[in-house]
Amino acid sequence: MSAAEEKFSVETESVLKVYGQGELEVRALNGLSLTVRPGEFTAICGPSGSGKTTLLNLMGALDKPTSGRVRVDGRDLGELGRRQLSQMRRDRIGFVFQAYNLIPVLTAYENAEMVLRLQGIEKGERRDRVMAVLADVGLSGLEDRRPDQLSGGQQQRVAIARAIASNPAVVLADEPTANVDSDTADRLLEIMEKLNRERGETFIFSTHDPRVLERARRVVRIVDGQIDNDQTRS
Ligand SMILES: Nc1ncnc2c1ncn2[C@@H]1O[C@H](COP(=O)(O)OP(=O)(O)OP(=O)(O)O)[C@@H](O)[C@H]1O
Ligand SMILES: [Mg+2]
Repeated sequence: MSAAEEKFSVETESVLKVYGQGELEVRALNGLSLTVRPGEFTAICGPSGSGKTTLLNLMGALDKPTSGRVRVDGRDLGELGRRQLSQMRRDRIGFVFQAYNLIPVLTAYENAEMVLRLQGIEKGERRDRVMAVLADVGLSGLEDRRPDQLSGGQQQRVAIARAIASNPAVVLADEPTANVDSDTADRLLEIMEKLNRERGETFIFSTHDPRVLERARRVVRIVDGQIDNDQTRS
């Protein structure tokens, strides 16, 4: 059974996240409780600085809350050790970072292949999967370019290819369409909707993009680190 066929729910319970201390203290999340069930296609929106990136980082076990709990598949992340957390990130979660976070010395192909290597998938299968996802995101022919030889939008597509190549149970995507044109955004959304529909992969996006909000089934708006509105389309 692949990771995506297993259930993946993520839940934050009264999560507080404070950065800095004293006068520099920022309450990025202020008692936020949110449950995302397996197979959701959910967008998180809200003004700049409202806490979207912070929330995705906590849900993806990249950071820890100051207080409150984050549960993935019902397991409290605060009770998992470093090895268990990194294994969960590698095997179950795909990230698309706001700042791409591609490895500068690796080509587009090698960046997209990275998680599959960490998972120990053999070379032939890695090649088939990476070539297929790079084609899906419209990057055929650019496999050998390094990030500095790609446009911002192309780098974003490599980041998306990397996140979906390993068929994760959940994809957490921070502003995945911020730097691409409308046609590319539509195409990326179609790919993600297809993975959601056919494999039941859970998608959680942060976005300002009306194109993404329009296609999301659930839109959660956060303001000042708290849920302001949570709507599911019927
Ligand atoms: N590492 C950090 N150290 C200190 N403050 C931080 C840090 N990261 C975020 N913040 C602050 O926490 C708040 C929430 O930031 P966050 O990046 O989660 O917002 P966001 O909703 O993703 O914004 P944007 O739409 O601009 O990406 C902001 O006030 C930000 O300045
Ligand atoms: Mg952000």
